[in-house]
Amino acid sequence: MRRQDKLVIAAAIAVNGMTGACLAPALAQAPTVNASTPVQAEEVVKALSDPSIVSAGERSFIKCQACHMVGEKAQRRVGPPLNGVVGRAAGLSDGFAYSAGMQATAKNGLVWTVEKLDAYLQAPREVVPATSMGFVGIPKPDERKALIAYLASFADNGSRVETATK
Ligand code: HEC
Repeated sequence: MRRQDKLVIAAAIAVNGMTGACLAPALAQAPTVNASTPVQAEEVVKALSDPSIVSAGERSFIKCQACHMVGEKAQRRVGPPLNGVVGRAAGLSDGFAYSAGMQATAKNGLVWTVEKLDAYLQAPREVVPATSMGFVGIPKPDERKALIAYLASFADNGSRVETATK
């Protein structure tokens, strides 16, 4: 169930004094996919060869652009450049001053697998306590999938991975 649906139902209970019995049909009809559905690595691999998903990821990256760059001319902004970040260990961008929280989590072995990246993009502080990334998170799994596919389309040197540009 989506968070909004839960809130709507909670509000209905508060306003109408709905009981569990009349709530049951509403729950049965609620969509089973919820905001915490994790994005799977295979989905990202598939998405990477689908230009429509990669470009949806590019549009979503607008949310990141105030702080991050990708591509051959990528530089540090408020956040580190993100070329080649998918699959790499955390906290490795040369010369970027990571937070103590990120440094500690990186030291404990955090690697940006699809799974970890997905969780970080949904709720940064749940993956890296006290991270300095001031970002609310992306609740929609499809949007995170597209965004991760877009990020995965950039090699370490900022060139595009071939499958994504076909
Ligand atoms: C307000 C600025 C800001 C926004 C917006 C933002 N980030 Fe960040 N991001 C940061 C900062 C700062 C860090 C370093 C965090 C730390 O050291 O704790 C970071 C770190 C990261 C890292 C880890 C990089 C590494 O080298 O380990 C990833 C991945 C990342 N951001 C992805 C994203 C994506 C994708 C978006 C858009 C959905 C986004 N960020 C939005 C500021 C931002």
